[in-house]
Formats: sequence, C-alpha cells, structure tokens
Amino acid sequence: MKATLKVDPSNQISKIDERIYGSFIEQLGRAVYEGIYQPGQSTADKNGLRRDVIDAIKKLNVPIVRYPGGNFVSQYKWEDGIGPKDVRPTRLDLAWRSIETNQFGLHEFMNWADKVGTKADMAVNLGTRGIMAAANLVEYCNFPKGSYWSDLRRQNGQEQPYNIKTWCLGNEMDGPWEIGQKTAYEYGHLANEAAKAMLAVDDSIELVACGSSSMDNPTFGDWEKTVLDQCYDNVDYLSLHRYYGFYGDDDPNELDNYLGKNIDLDEFIKGVVAICDAVKARKRTKKTINLSLDEWNVWYHSNDQDAKTAPWQTAPHLLEDVYNFEDALLIGSLLMTLLKNSDRVKIACLAQLVNVIAPIMTTDQGVWFQSIFYPYMQVSNYGKGIALTPEVDVATYKSREFDAVPYLDSIATYDQSQDEVTIFAENKNQTEVIDFSTLLRDLNVKKVIEATQFYGYDVKADNRDGKMGLQSLDVSTDDHEIKAKLQPLSWNMIRVHVSK
Ligand code: AHR
Repeated sequence: MKATLKVDPSNQISKIDERIYGSFIEQLGRAVYEGIYQPGQSTADKNGLRRDVIDAIKKLNVPIVRYPGGNFVSQYKWEDGIGPKDVRPTRLDLAWRSIETNQFGLHEFMNWADKVGTKADMAVNLGTRGIMAAANLVEYCNFPKGSYWSDLRRQNGQEQPYNIKTWCLGNEMDGPWEIGQKTAYEYGHLANEAAKAMLAVDDSIELVACGSSSMDNPTFGDWEKTVLDQCYDNVDYLSLHRYYGFYGDDDPNELDNYLGKNIDLDEFIKGVVAICDAVKARKRTKKTINLSLDEWNVWYHSNDQDAKTAPWQTAPHLLEDVYNFEDALLIGSLLMTLLKNSDRVKIACLAQLVNVIAPIMTTDQGVWFQSIFYPYMQVSNYGKGIALTPEVDVATYKSREFDAVPYLDSIATYDQSQDEVTIFAENKNQTEVIDFSTLLRDLNVKKVIEATQFYGYDVKADNRDGKMGLQSLDVSTDDHEIKAKLQPLSWNMIRVHVSK
C-alpha cells in the first residue's frame, strides 16, 4: 500500500494553541491521594508532593491542568480545602461516593502546578453553588490584597495572587448524573450571571461555558444553542467532552471501526463549531466562540470493576483503566484530530493525568507509563508552531460506523522558530506496510532530527510489564521528499530540520 502526505507551509490550518495538550486532575479515586500527593512516600517532598510523579508529568510537557473536577466540582465547597489542614472538614464526596479529607486543596494544587510547570484551568461549582461562591474564588485567587478573600489567601501563606487565567463555569451541567443538573436555560442563565460577577472581580480571565458532556446526549445541539443564547457575550469558549470504548472483543472488523473513532470526534467538533457560529450569526456579533475539549480519552476498561467498588473509601481504586496498544493507536489519531481542528479547538484536556483514566500510574514504590503515554508525549512535545493542512492520498476502508476511514492518518506541524517540521503518521492497516512519502513544497529537508515508530505489540497488550517503548524508524530523504515504511498498526513520528 502506498500513501503520500503533501506538506505546504503556506497551506495552514492555524497557529497551534499549546493548551490543546492540557490534561486533568480531579479529586477522584487515586488521582490526588496516592497519585500526585502522598505524604511519606519515598520521593514525596515536605508538602507531600510526589517528585517521581512530577518528573513523569514533565516528560509530557502538559501546559494546563483542569482542576478540581469533573463531577466532583458540582458538589464541592472550595473553602473546605484552604487553611490549616488539621481543621479542614472530612466530607462525603457525593459525586463519586468517596470520602474527601480535604488534605489537598487549592494551595496544594497551585504549588504542585508550579512544580510541574503548568497552569491551572480552574472549575467552579455551578451545580450546588452559585454566583458568589464563584466570584469569591476568583477574588481569593486573583485579587492582590485589601479585601476579605484576598487577605485570607495571604493569611493562608500565599502573598501574591495566583492570577489564574482560565476558568470553567461548572461541569457537565447537562448530565443526569451531575449533582445539580440544570436545563439548558437554567444553566445558561446561571453561567452568564456567574461570569458577570467573576469578570467584575477580574476582567482579564477567560471563561469556558459547559457544552454537552457527550454528542450522544439527547439535548446535544439544543443545549449549545440555548446556553450560548444566554451567555455568549461573557464567555470565550464552549466545552465538549468525549470518551471512547471498544466493545467488540477480538473481532478485527471492530478494531477497524475503533481505529476510525477519530472521525466521530472530528464530526462532534465540527458540529459544535457550526452551532457556535450559528449563534454568532443570529446575534450579529463579531465575537467568535472557540472550543475547549476539556475531557477526552478512552474510558471503558474499568467500568465493571468500578460498579463493584464499595462506597465511602478514601482514595478508592476508581476509573483505573489499563490501556492497551489499540487504545494508544486511537489516542494518536485523536491527537491528530485536535491538530486538524486547531483553528477552533484552543484548549483540550486528556482526562485524566494520574491513576484515573490516565497515562501515568502510581504504586507506593514508583510510577509506570501506560501505552497512551507515548503518542501523547510526542505530540505534546513536538506538535508545535503551525498545523499544516494535511493533503493525504491513500486508500480508505469502510467500517461498521464509518464509510471511509483512511488507512493512513497523518498531519505535519511547522515550527518556524526552530526550522522544524514534524510529521505524525499512523498506519491503520492491520496487515500491510504503507510505503509512505512526504512531499515538501517550498521547503528543503536539511537533516532528520529524529524518527520513531511505536508498533509490534498485540493490540490487547498493555504496558504493566514496562516493555513498551518507542523504536527508531528508518527514513530516507532527498531535497523535498521523506520516505519511510510504516508498519501495520503503527504510530510514527518524523522530525526534520528544514530550510526555505
Ligand atoms: O473524567 C471522569 C468524569 O467524566 C468526570 O468527572 C466527568 O466530568 C465526566 O463524566
């Protein structure tokens, strides 16, 4: 099988907002407790932050982390997590039916974010709380001094404001599972009023309104329109969430279908963009709403186990999906989908980061990387600069849900500041090698910096034994062409220095 990718530096999708490589830490399961925070663990610092986990996250180069939820936030009182730890209340977490000790809260998270080198994407509770709790949190975090909440922050040890820029107006408010679920009108109105108060405290912040928690929800479409009708002028982004699962056992046709799920994400994104722009036109405004895909991943492996987990535990093993190789291939394609939509998707959070549906897992002794860690690490580190429109020429296949899935999924990014082009390419063909050729227009290949492939594993194999890793890929080049053989079911990355 042959495939070509044409790369033209003047054929640009968008400058990439690196926040599309964000992730998510929810106060859920072992994400925080036994994950990023474990006082007494051998690598933990004096504040209980695990240094081995911080080092692992740094490899992923995560620019922004959403916190503290997720469903958790819709029943959370942020004031429980500040001040002296010995008087913080232990509460029932109604979202996950767990025990929340509140030993980890806002200050601990911001300290951790600083150590990781990431920014906060802070969510406020619009499920069971409302306008003033949200505005007070902005005041606590961002107001310099001389007011009740800002002085309380200083009294709690943080003199300088945190200046958190990105804020989520609640979480999945369309979902029947959400504590404090609302109708689209109720939520849109509340989001608008909360936004007004939060912006009154700090008008430099950016706000994300809740879109649909899934394209499958019956309210999808009407929800977006009604919500934006209410709050368009006061928000910057609309969220969308999407999770995938594989339900076909060993059926190769189902694997074909699973590997085409990036088409579903692409359709979802384009659908939400269309609704945002329809509201824009009806409002006769020049303002454009962009998207925050603030939860996305594969999530299904742990469902049966979670149904059996006893409630009211501290740090229970919840949502601990163990990812296999086919999941890593899907994640690679989903990451490329973010790049292909980078003109409108400006924030995206792989949900989540540690232990809970996560690329990084911990034991009391150390950390291990899931299969999905590898494509995420590569795109996050090297998918920089400008996303170039992929002109791919390759055969397609038909699957149960998708009429035409290209056997090759590919996109290139161009980082002009480093004279570097990075090509991501995935061969979805289960049996055939692809003779892959990248043709560069108006750019000369000077040197191959790095070429890797991720392949050769059983699609159902996971990385609990630590045997997975990137292998080198042979490439040949001349002035305008880069050639490589892409193995069946492989994720590949080629980085080259270029000149004009
Ligand atoms: O990421 C796990 C959960 O998925 C989040 O808490 C919720 O927002 C979504 O349903």
